[in-house]
Amino acid sequence: MTTPAAGNRQIRLAARPSGLPVPTDWESTVEPVPEPADGHLLVEVSHISLDPAMRGWMNDVRSYIPPVRIGEVMRAGAIGRVLASRHPDFAVGDHVFGPFGVQEYAESDGAGVRRVDLGIAPPETHLGVLGATGLTAYFGLFDIGRPQPGQTVLVSGAAGAVGSVVGQLARLTGCRAVGIAGGPDKCRTLTEEFGFDAAVDYKNDDVPAALRKHCPDGVDVFFDNVGGTILDVALTRLARGARVIVCGAISQYNNTEPGPGPSNYLSLLVNRASMTGMVVFDYADRYPEATAELAGWLADGRLRAREDVVEGDVTSFPETLLRLFTGANTGKLVLRIR
Ligand SMILES: NC(=O)c1ccc[n+]([C@@H]2O[C@H](COP(=O)([O-])OP(=O)(O)OC[C@H]3O[C@@H](n4cnc5c(N)ncnc54)[C@H](OP(=O)(O)O)[C@@H]3O)[C@@H](O)[C@H]2O)c1
Repeated sequence: MTTPAAGNRQIRLAARPSGLPVPTDWESTVEPVPEPADGHLLVEVSHISLDPAMRGWMNDVRSYIPPVRIGEVMRAGAIGRVLASRHPDFAVGDHVFGPFGVQEYAESDGAGVRRVDLGIAPPETHLGVLGATGLTAYFGLFDIGRPQPGQTVLVSGAAGAVGSVVGQLARLTGCRAVGIAGGPDKCRTLTEEFGFDAAVDYKNDDVPAALRKHCPDGVDVFFDNVGGTILDVALTRLARGARVIVCGAISQYNNTEPGPGPSNYLSLLVNRASMTGMVVFDYADRYPEATAELAGWLADGRLRAREDVVEGDVTSFPETLLRLFTGANTGKLVLRIR
């Protein structure tokens, strides 16, 4: 292997943020590019996934995954090309997805690494519809939401990575899909590009009135990505037997104080409804079946992939991450390494 002269640039967590992450929460380091140990591989990272969950991983709290330690390379799913391999399952030149982190080169023992087929879709789509994004939408909606044809599926964060897939899968199932997103442009994208039946602009519309209008018979499935006030309002529109999927709560991730709880939760009782949290990692043994189905819909045009690709080097990561919290992205946010 030829060792790249400039070394391996990395972004490490320097401090635990209070509120939105600021530049001093990060440190940029350069280390020698590692040689792969026996049974390991070396990957040149080309595309890094940006996920709202990253904000949670920066907090020192108990969660479904341990926090990133201070001084550690920031955790991230990424795609890259195998530069050197002493691993039996991977060959030089393979394109792979793995938990490679925010760095230019990653040395890995192969845990969580899988080959990606760039013949069926570009790398950014393997981080989006064909990656954790699509899988989250798929298992959250189908396993927990259990939508039936003719039912109404309401989605918050609907123009984002997960939300835009949920709406499309709801339509594929014969449901009415109603999306909530910020701003007229995103709402237009929901109906014109992703095929939602109706869109609610939470920044400009009267959300309770808009939900009454667009969900006249109530909401059978609410796929929630944002939490907070939107969750509280959506709870007032539940149909009898509704399923609420707690996928995420991005409106709460930068809170410095605990936010108020949902005051309308008794709607669950009145409507014999359920509210269930989901973590996509729990479905790992079923990823292949779901990815094959998603890839089929992508290939026959029934599912659209939309990515928001920012070009830069790994030092662009901290600023790019903030785009998720300002709503600057539509679809899956990816950093493509130049
Ligand atoms: N449970 C799991 O296993 C799992 C897996 C993946 C993702 N998730 C969760 O799924 C959700 C969506 O993730 P994603 O990757 O698809 O991100 P995303 O939706 O592509 O990006 C975040 C979007 O959230 C919206 N947003 C930001 N701040 C907001 C606020 N204060 N109130 C309302 N909306 C706000 C913005 O859209 P607007 O412009 O519309 O505001 C922004 O574009 C997140 O909560 C994430 O943590 C969960």
